[in-house]
Amino acid sequence: MKDNFSRTRMKKVLILGGTTEARLLAGRLAARGDLDIVLSLAGRTAEPAEQPVPVRRGGFGGAEGLASHLRDQHIDLLIDATHPYAAQISRNAEAAARLSGVPAFALRRTAWEPVAGDRWHLVADAKEAVAVLGNEPRRVFLALGRQEIGPFAKAPQHSYVIRSVDPIEPPLNVPDAEYILARGPFAEADERRLLAERRINTIVAKNSGGSATYGKIAAARELGIDMILFRRPDVPDMPSVETVAEAVTMVDHLTASATRKRGV
Ligand SMILES: NC(=O)c1ccc[n+]([C@@H]2O[C@H](COP(=O)([O-])OP(=O)(O)OC[C@H]3O[C@@H](n4cnc5c(N)ncnc54)[C@H](OP(=O)(O)O)[C@@H]3O)[C@@H](O)[C@H]2O)c1
Repeated sequence: MKDNFSRTRMKKVLILGGTTEARLLAGRLAARGDLDIVLSLAGRTAEPAEQPVPVRRGGFGGAEGLASHLRDQHIDLLIDATHPYAAQISRNAEAAARLSGVPAFALRRTAWEPVAGDRWHLVADAKEAVAVLGNEPRRVFLALGRQEIGPFAKAPQHSYVIRSVDPIEPPLNVPDAEYILARGPFAEADERRLLAERRINTIVAKNSGGSATYGKIAAARELGIDMILFRRPDVPDMPSVETVAEAVTMVDHLTASATRKRGV
């Protein structure tokens, strides 16, 4: 990675966020007091969570747009802490870092792995999930984002419980759908209760990794519920860490090595 940390001003860090980890990392780095941090959100969520640092919202205009932003804003370090399924912005981050020469790394949650008792079916996307659901009516819990819900309208024979951060607009055109608005983390006991009360027999979700949304996976195992999980998308090859603590260490390392190279 190229060293372009400035000698004279506070180092500027741009965190691409939209995840719990990005928020936690921003808080941890802000507490150091020697970094100028901005968190970037896509702007999709109507009421995003409170962030501990200044926030900018909206796309950059592809990889070139992000590269220009990095140069124009004199960003010293780019951290891609977006969701594992936000593959486009991750590709853009890798390309923009290359184009601009700005050091960058990714904070990526490890995917969950199945353990004994899990009834997982892996699919590419919502369309394939609909095919796996089949013709027999099922009671389905959709723990997906707004953008992934549409294809389930093609399977109106199932009953749906749909949980999302923002309302599903327009609602799914099926006769039996219940909507739950909620933002994680979700405790395993609450997930178990929800799944049992609604008599859910199939969950469709992403393999998000991390602990905040693992409760439904553990609860499904205990209740013998089928899980249809979207496969992780491919992400670009760039230096990466898996936890917020490792990301803090990486920033320490990058800023310290920049200081050493300057002979300060
Ligand atoms: N996908 C998920 O399942 C999921 C779940 C939870 C949270 N999120 C968060 O929601 C955001 C959008 O997800 P997505 O799946 O739509 O991503 P995506 O498909 O990878 O990104 C699509 C476009 O949205 C813009 N964008 C995405 N993240 C951005 C960010 N943090 N700051 C500025 N612009 C951003 C970029 O536009 P330009 O090309 O114009 O720059 C990008 O090309 C991400 O920040 C992600 O961390 C996603």
